[in-house]
Amino acid sequence: MQDNKASHTAYTVLQGVVHTGSQKHTNWLVSPEKMSACLDILDSSDEGRKRLHQLRNPVLSTGLKMMQRLLLPGIAIHYVTRKKAIEDIVRADIVRGARQVVNIGAGFDTLMYELSRDRTDLTCIELDHPATAAQKRQAFAAHAPANLHLHPVDLSKTELSDALAQIPAFDPTLRTCFICEGVLMYLDSSDVERVFSAVTQATSGGVQFIFTAIPSMDSPNTNATWLLKRYLHRLGEPLCWTIEKSDITDFLAAQGYELDQVVDGHDMRRKYLSRLSDTPFHLGEFVVSCTPTQKG
Ligand SMILES: C[S@@+](CC[C@H](N)C(=O)[O-])C[C@H]1O[C@@H](n2cnc3c(N)ncnc32)[C@H](O)[C@@H]1O
Repeated sequence: MQDNKASHTAYTVLQGVVHTGSQKHTNWLVSPEKMSACLDILDSSDEGRKRLHQLRNPVLSTGLKMMQRLLLPGIAIHYVTRKKAIEDIVRADIVRGARQVVNIGAGFDTLMYELSRDRTDLTCIELDHPATAAQKRQAFAAHAPANLHLHPVDLSKTELSDALAQIPAFDPTLRTCFICEGVLMYLDSSDVERVFSAVTQATSGGVQFIFTAIPSMDSPNTNATWLLKRYLHRLGEPLCWTIEKSDITDFLAAQGYELDQVVDGHDMRRKYLSRLSDTPFHLGEFVVSCTPTQKG
């Protein structure tokens, strides 16, 4: 991460969502509310406006599409479908009684914003690196719901448990759904293990933990290209922690968790993209939902 700049990859995910929501054949995948929140965020910074310009200018947007094909074919639509998979699991957990949702490394994702508007009884907390959190605060300054809390923290310097303890809105007795989407792969494995341990101990009210993970670049289970690895290194956000889907159950057991479900690219495609069966789609990153086997 660069200390003084909002996350480049967070902008890239947001740009992918807006791109998907702007194309005739995929716009039904992004709700008008989500699209409007995404545009508000992009419109609130120089980098965001640059990303919007890239999408709206025909020459630049053709360049973006070519870059996507070279680095990670079908990644923009993957961002949208993985967000749908996560939202479905979070909403199901709210029905089961979750009263608090914490998004770790939320970037410019809009789910917490949407949930906090839908459910005023829900506490929605986002944690992100200070530069990214500040940018998002600015974007939502005029219309952030009172139950949405954006908290700046550098998780490479502050333990997740300490960060949560500093958030007045965080209630350690409530059943809580934690999200960590598109983040763990940027941490080294000891930091990843610390996140799992902190989540287990965060609340006495029960935990659901939803995260995404990727296999290594050399895996037959990803269609990421070697160019992507070099590109992420250049951005200062290199990939560190990778895992195969087949190793998830053992990994979770070692962290004191049990698996609820894994939603991989094939599942996402079947569930959300049956109308678009021949569209290029990123296979690699998958969504995992799990619960601690015992309270911390
Ligand atoms: C690829 S983006 C994903 C954003 C969002 N979760 C999504 O999927 O749309 C990675 C996010 O992790 C955050 N992040 C990376 N390193 C961090 C750190 N040391 N402390 C806090 N957040 C960090 C970045 O700021 C960025 O928002």
